[in-house]
Amino acid sequence: MEELITIENVVKNDDKGNAILKGISAKVMDGELITIIGPSGSGKSTFLSLLNRMTDPDSGIIRFKGKNYLEMNVLELRRKIGMVFQVPTMLSGTVRENLLIGPKLFRQTLSEEEIDNLLEQVALPKTLKDQDARTLSGGQKQRVSLARTLANKPEILLLDEVTASLDPTSSLEIEGLVQVLHEQQRKTILWVTHNLKQAKRVGQYTWVIANGKIVEQGPTEEVFENPQHEITKEFIVTAFDQEGEIQ
Ligand SMILES: Nc1ncnc2c1ncn2[C@@H]1O[C@H](COP(=O)(O)OP(=O)(O)O)[C@@H](O)[C@H]1O
Ligand SMILES: [Mg+2]
Repeated sequence: MEELITIENVVKNDDKGNAILKGISAKVMDGELITIIGPSGSGKSTFLSLLNRMTDPDSGIIRFKGKNYLEMNVLELRRKIGMVFQVPTMLSGTVRENLLIGPKLFRQTLSEEEIDNLLEQVALPKTLKDQDARTLSGGQKQRVSLARTLANKPEILLLDEVTASLDPTSSLEIEGLVQVLHEQQRKTILWVTHNLKQAKRVGQYTWVIANGKIVEQGPTEEVFENPQHEITKEFIVTAFDQEGEIQ
């Protein structure tokens, strides 16, 4: 299995110089689905944004297939490593126009067949192509957002709380779509979620970020069944208390 992303002792500070991420080292192998959990404010979104080069580390190195991020073309990198956010932002125009945004940056377009194919991957009817994207429901917008990222044919998907704003049914539907992308297209996925049941259900591996560090990482089953770190134990136990038994 190929090593896709290598993170070497990455530090990220806020504008005032306070550490948000305090030295993170990790590896992402081709085809893995990693769920990332941890208390709110622990640095999860900051971590994902580094992997997509929305921001750069203050020190440390991030590599894609061995190549230092800083030596790569940013657009090319973002194309290979796509990100989807909690709140889908639709640009003005139709669903079709929203899907064409990514390819346009590379002076490319999508055929109607390719657009249909993208809609199929996110289980949206073709008839939505000509609809104003801003009139869609929250769940539909998140599907378009996912399809827009898939239009760039990314190798890696970074998902930041992508189901957090959705009702339970839409949330499970998006979850299912992502699992299909992982299983059928072998997409490598890093998925930040505060929904621990979801993290347990979908993850092969789970990383726990707390206080700007990865305090625990391992196969998802092990992390949930037998957490080693005090912070993980407390975090998971608290969630048990709040949500009842984790299934
Ligand atoms: N641009 C920024 N400037 C200053 N502080 C920030 C910035 N982005 C995030 N932070 C702070 O960094 C910490 C981690 O935030 P974040 O990565 O969003 O955590 P999480 O996604 O785990 O909830 C928080 O304390 C947050 O307030
Ligand atoms: Mg966050």
